[in-house]
Amino acid sequence: MSKYVVTGGAGFIGSSVVRALLDQGAGHVHVIDNLLTGYEKNLEEVARQVTLHRVDIRDFEGVKAAIAGAEKVFHLAAIPSVPKSIDEPVPSHEVNIDGTFNVYRACAETGVKRVVYAASSSAYGDTEVLPKVETMVPQPLSPYAAQKLMGEYYASVFHSCFGLEAVALRFFNVYGPRQDPSSPYSGVLSIFMKCLIEGRRPTLFGDGGQTRDFTYVADVAGLCLKASRASGVAGKVYNAGNGNRYTLNEVWQTLQDTQGVTLAPNYGPSRAGDVRDSQADTTAAVRDLGHAPQYSLAEGLRLTFDWYKSSLVA
Ligand code: UD1
Repeated sequence: MSKYVVTGGAGFIGSSVVRALLDQGAGHVHVIDNLLTGYEKNLEEVARQVTLHRVDIRDFEGVKAAIAGAEKVFHLAAIPSVPKSIDEPVPSHEVNIDGTFNVYRACAETGVKRVVYAASSSAYGDTEVLPKVETMVPQPLSPYAAQKLMGEYYASVFHSCFGLEAVALRFFNVYGPRQDPSSPYSGVLSIFMKCLIEGRRPTLFGDGGQTRDFTYVADVAGLCLKASRASGVAGKVYNAGNGNRYTLNEVWQTLQDTQGVTLAPNYGPSRAGDVRDSQADTTAAVRDLGHAPQYSLAEGLRLTFDWYKSSLVA
């Protein structure tokens, strides 16, 4: 049976990729995670089908040993935050660039067939035109965006120079069950969910009019698997988004409406490195990868809220 490895597999998106692999018959999955932002409990009910390698991706030999013999690798391990990359640029750089290089190098040296890389929509920066298409010139606005972009370039170069089939997916603001709401660097929807459950007002950075293409985690995990199988896609970059965009004000209003509460948000200063608008053009991903997002924002928010309610209140 083929060996699959998910780096960052104990994290929010990675644990969803692990489940998708198991749901589609993988049988067993190897996870590389240093448990910095990941949690073993994210893999609780599938633990018997998972081998957890507690390895930091900055440790090349550890990564190589865990990856040896794998056919496909899903590289999601990262320090995934724009503001954290500004507050603490060194670990962010080391994990997101040096660690990513280690993963590709280990894949190339051990004969991995394909690696799917979690790139980021932040690579686009502020574009004049929406939606954002893969052919646009990247304009990273933060260390995180630049680091994730470097991972794409290395994916392409590992393909052209070393024959590694690397495919990059630019994730667009992924949300859903298991996103950790406990840090100031947490994704905004996880913070919204926690505020809603605790009856607190969120703080919106700026006027709340910034838009995001919020993408449900199961759709992204499904696309990772499709990208691991599609032909003719090695060395390429694809948007992994829904194709919509909503302001933060709209989303918070929707959440209040569904719960029948009124909690006017606080407004604070805009965040450094923040992108104003984000929306994916999904044409290429639909055409080449068979991308077919299943979850509307309303449905995704409902499922996500249900999960937070049962896990935060329990
Ligand atoms: C960015 C990337 C995303 C990537 C993510 C990794 C863009 C467009 N998106 O997300 O693809 O996966 O980094 O973390 O660059 N906000 C508030 N209040 C809060 C928290 C956040 O108003 O308490 C605002 C932020 O200022 C931002 C928006 O909500 O405008 C989304 O923030 P966040 O969820 O942290 O993600 P991005 O930085 O957009």
